[in-house]
Parts: sequence; structure tokens; C-alpha cells
Amino acid sequence: MIEKDFVFKSVELVNGVSTWESPSNIALIKYWGKYDEQLPKNPSVSFTLSKCKTITKIKYRPKRENETDNFSFLFEGSSKPSFHVKIDKFINRIEKYIPAIKHHFFEIKSHNTFPHSSGIASSASAMSSLALCFMEIERQINPKISEIDFLKKSSFLARLGSGSASRSIEGPLVSWGDSESYDNSSLLYGTSLKNFAPVFESYQDTILIIDKNKKKVSSSLGHQLMKFNPYAENRFIQANKNMSTIKNILLKGNLDNFIKIVELEALSLHAMMMTSSPSFILMQPNTLSVINKVKEFRKQTSIPICFTLDAGANIHLLYPQQYFKKIQHFVIKKLLKYCLSKQFINDHVGIGSKKI
Ligand code: DP6
Repeated sequence: MIEKDFVFKSVELVNGVSTWESPSNIALIKYWGKYDEQLPKNPSVSFTLSKCKTITKIKYRPKRENETDNFSFLFEGSSKPSFHVKIDKFINRIEKYIPAIKHHFFEIKSHNTFPHSSGIASSASAMSSLALCFMEIERQINPKISEIDFLKKSSFLARLGSGSASRSIEGPLVSWGDSESYDNSSLLYGTSLKNFAPVFESYQDTILIIDKNKKKVSSSLGHQLMKFNPYAENRFIQANKNMSTIKNILLKGNLDNFIKIVELEALSLHAMMMTSSPSFILMQPNTLSVINKVKEFRKQTSIPICFTLDAGANIHLLYPQQYFKKIQHFVIKKLLKYCLSKQFINDHVGIGSKKI
């Protein structure tokens, strides 16, 4: 599908309520660098998570005469000005794809299942759940829309809110971006992988909270800095190669190679931040301590655990479900001391968003 296929012209007026939950995701091959309207400079692939999610409810009605605002927003019962600005921008961006939006007022309420104090900033779960709620309005006007097109357009809209959000609609593995190795992959929306080894269906992600401070660099700024990063072109080449290598790894379930590529991606992402101008070091001393402990533990036990990172200090530990008990013991005994207020979250791979 191309961009114009996503325009739904009807401006019928409707009333209704729509509620969706959508999870966060953790990238294996990282998206870092974008152009035009939320298009990624390189393809990425992620595990969709289960427990870390956002629940969004939108009540909608036709706009009244002379009504200037088009939405109100409460996050966990309070207004959140920074998110208000993002939603405003998001609505402006998606209006051309669902013009009926211009003629409605939206009362938006959302909450997360993960604690504030965790420092997990989930634009992916927030924007994907919001996109799904807006798509429900389109579906009310056009009930014949197929499930496939509904999910595809939800991902397309979610991308306009936050790139990584395009990968949260479905699961357990979703690719996004142009890649010769992935059939049906698109720059415009995420596509769930059909073929992968069974071990990945129940992969675990234990998230260690190292730092809850607001990100020193927003993802948006980080992506922009890639425009001037002297290593950017090589990074995009590397990400493309890694995308094609990981496809086979995911298919065969080769965990040694999985570990190599996932950790390399995490460190390459941080290398890009460190070599941007201005540069950013988002890892904390405790991030490095945990990385070293994980490598040591892997060597001693031969348990196929690896780490990955987002644009922050927190660590995601990825491993097959069969090792859950052993890893839990390792986390509690050896890693808790590096976690902020001993916080960690046990999550696992999931199948994506759900209508409530
Ligand atoms: C490091 O999706 O948050 O998590 O499109 O500007 O909202 P925007 O960026 P965002 O970037 C996520 C970057 C990442 C890697 C990834 O998830 O692929």
C-alpha cells in the first residue's frame, strides 16, 4: 500500500467510545535516524511486550459550533502538558488520513500498567493505543474495513505519533522499514513476522530500572542528530545487514548468534549517541556493571541470556522462558543492587494490542 491508500475521505458525524490497550516493544535491530514525516533511515525489528502497556479511552462526539479545542486529555487522572502537545501534533498529522477527526471533539483518558517511578517512557504504547482508538472512529463510519486493513492503518497512524509505536499493534515480532529480506515490509507501517522459531514465542524480557530520570535527550532530537553524525551512513548499512542476518537467526532459533547481534545493536545505538554533536552518554555506571555481570553469568552458566538497551540507562534482559527461575535468582542475588530502589519488571513477548 502507498500513502494515498490510507486516506479515508468520509466526514460522517458519529458519537461513541473506544478503548484500546497496546503494549510497549523492545527493538532487536534499532531504529535511530529518520527523515520526512516519520520515515526510518533503516529498517528495525522488535519483540512486542505484554505487561508494559497503555490503556487509552476516547469518547467522541461531533464538535459544537464555535468550539475551538478539539480534545481534552487526562493521564492517570491529571493533565500532562507535555503529552498534550504531542497529542495535538499527532491529531494534526492524522487529520488528512481521517478527515472526520476535524469535525469531532475527543475526551481522551489514558493510563499505563507500569509505575511512573520506573522511568519507562513509552511513546510506543501510548501512541499505538491512541491510533487504535482513532481507527475505531473510522471503523464506525466504515464497518466493512477488513481486520488486516484496520491493523495496517492503525500501525501507519501510530508511526506518525512515534516511529517505534508502529511496531506495537501486533506481535510477537514486528519489522518496520524497507528491507529486501522481509516480504511485505514497509516504510509506512509495521508488519508482523510470520516465520520464526518457537523459542521466541515466549521469550522473556526482565527490565532492570537503573535510572528514572527524564531522558537527557529525547528520541526525536536523537534521530535528528543522526543527520550530522559522521558515522551515520555506516550505521544504516550495518542495520540493514543486521536485519537480513537476524531474519535467519529468528527462523532457526540460533541463540548464540541472536545474542551477538542483539548486544551489538544495543551498543551501536549508544555509540551513535556518543558520537553525535552534541554527544550523549545515556548509560550509567550501573548499566555497565550489569552488562559485565550478565556477560560473566553467561560464560559461567552457558545460559543464553543477553542484554539490550533503549535510548536510556535501563537494561532489558532477554532470554528463553525455560530459564526464568534461574535468571530470577540471578537478578535478585546479583543485579538488584544496581537497580534504582531495587526495581525491575518481568515482562515477556506478546501478541500486541487489544480492544477493551
Ligand atoms: C532507541 O520511536 O521513540 O527506542 O519516532 O521520534 O517518536 P520517535 O522516536 P522513537 O524512537 C525509538 C528509538 C529506540 C529504538 C527503537 O525502538 O527501534
